[in-house]
Amino acid sequence: MSTGYEAEWWRSAVIYQVYPRSFADGNGDGTGDLAGVRSRLGYLRDLGVDAIWFTPWYVSPLADGGYDVADYRAIDPQFGTLAEAEALIAEARELGIRTIVDVVPNHVSDEHPWFRAALAAGPGSPERERFWFRPGRGEGGAELPTRWVSDFQGTTWTRTTNPDGTPGEWYLHLFAPSQPDLNWDHPDVRREHEEILRFWFDRGAAGIRIDSAALLVKDPELPEVPEHPGPGEHPHVDRDALHDVYRSWRAVADSYDEPRVLVGEVWLPDTARFTRFLRPDEMHTAFNFDFMARPWDAKALRESVTTTLDAHAPVGAPATWVLSNHDVTRPVTRYGRQDSSFAFTAKRFGTPTDLVTGLRRARAAALLVAALPGALYVYQGDELGLPEVEDLPLDVIQDPMHDRSGGVDPGRDGCRVPLPWTRAGSAFGFGPDGGSAPWLPQPASWGDLSVEAQDGDPASTLSLYRRTLAARRAEPALHGGAFRWLDAVGEAAVGDDVLAFARGDGAARDDALVCVVNLGPEPVALPGGARVLLHSGDPREALDQVPTDVAVWFRP
Ligand code: GLC
Repeated sequence: MSTGYEAEWWRSAVIYQVYPRSFADGNGDGTGDLAGVRSRLGYLRDLGVDAIWFTPWYVSPLADGGYDVADYRAIDPQFGTLAEAEALIAEARELGIRTIVDVVPNHVSDEHPWFRAALAAGPGSPERERFWFRPGRGEGGAELPTRWVSDFQGTTWTRTTNPDGTPGEWYLHLFAPSQPDLNWDHPDVRREHEEILRFWFDRGAAGIRIDSAALLVKDPELPEVPEHPGPGEHPHVDRDALHDVYRSWRAVADSYDEPRVLVGEVWLPDTARFTRFLRPDEMHTAFNFDFMARPWDAKALRESVTTTLDAHAPVGAPATWVLSNHDVTRPVTRYGRQDSSFAFTAKRFGTPTDLVTGLRRARAAALLVAALPGALYVYQGDELGLPEVEDLPLDVIQDPMHDRSGGVDPGRDGCRVPLPWTRAGSAFGFGPDGGSAPWLPQPASWGDLSVEAQDGDPASTLSLYRRTLAARRAEPALHGGAFRWLDAVGEAAVGDDVLAFARGDGAARDDALVCVVNLGPEPVALPGGARVLLHSGDPREALDQVPTDVAVWFRP
């Protein structure tokens, strides 16, 4: 890698998301841990990733899979120790892999010392000012302070009980009741988070992923949500004052010799509002959920790519491409459905799914996103083509989204099932043979999807990912921002069902790289003389035309 590419590594990095609980279990207790990750760093190097993003590994009751943090400066004992985290960060870096840690600023766990102190101190106390405690409305304060709707469905307020047993104030939680929201108007909250950032940056973290980044700041009047809020008018989403927070975080990140990177989890439908978070003195990048939520449809995807690139250009930030994460239905499953778009509210048990089609499309999608300009996120297990596990026994489901939907939404555990590493063994190599059962059961067929089963099979999804990431790293045309849609592939006009674009400056034809993805029913002919670098079908078959649901990279 050249120095310039290295210095702004985050502009075109491949970032692998590790969900520590489900990646690899080193001590055999059924829960993934840092020892497990350390033993698999070679796998990640060989896969060709530039960085790992760890979902929260801090001390937590795990009421929301660790997004309920009780101590931001300590590793949960189920996962390991702080010394192990430091060793892991250093070992990964030796292999050329940077570490991004997850920071959860919107809320804490109800077991966090601040919240415990707030409950103990009672109404009117300074301890309560770090949160949003309010008296209820109506007679005896029995009614909720607002009718806001939780991101996990249901209400956003829980009533406390006074020490004498009488009903007390209510506190705000945009997520589960065990995740009380912090008051970002309070100086302690701001100071504490800047210190948490420094704590991890000082330990070698190359960046942070910012959880629920558009939610932190609330309108202190706590009004109801207007029917059609204008930009910045929503009482708890995308408030203008958020930008001050991220400007101060950027200053912290920039104060390091190797500047640290801020990656935001920003779910906002308005791309112009979204890219405001990416102005040069704010975050470096943010997840592109618009693209992720789109169906497998050329028109929809083309529109998302164009909107994304157009919106990012003025702020000079790179786009990101994300096919999935620990919150959403696995692409193999999603793309195998009649409605292949993603929405939290649409998740249901028993949706008919064609996994053969889904896998074919997910493989094509992997080539598509790897060819787009910007950073690429790969969620653990997508490189194995794992489907969503949709038949988890109801009594093992832990995700609060399931419960809070009254059991209608299957929740997010189906994409969090522990990875299979070996063909056989009690947990397919997730943990040592004979260890405790994994915290979520793996389907009996997962030995066939294991790393061991796919390793060395050129037709496997793992081999496809390895080839793709290696080619992406080797191709200068893919490192910069140059991108243009093609109207024609060779002599033939590009139809509505096809995505075709060129990367590289194209001045010297030899430098250009073309990606064609066929989402339509008819095969697409490749131009004569096209030199195919790779395609998402079976690599043992030469390709002179692009079949349905296949992507190809070639030099014209
Ligand atoms: C983010 C996380 C999700 C979590 C939520 C609340 O959306 O990705 O897993 O439940 O924030 O912290």
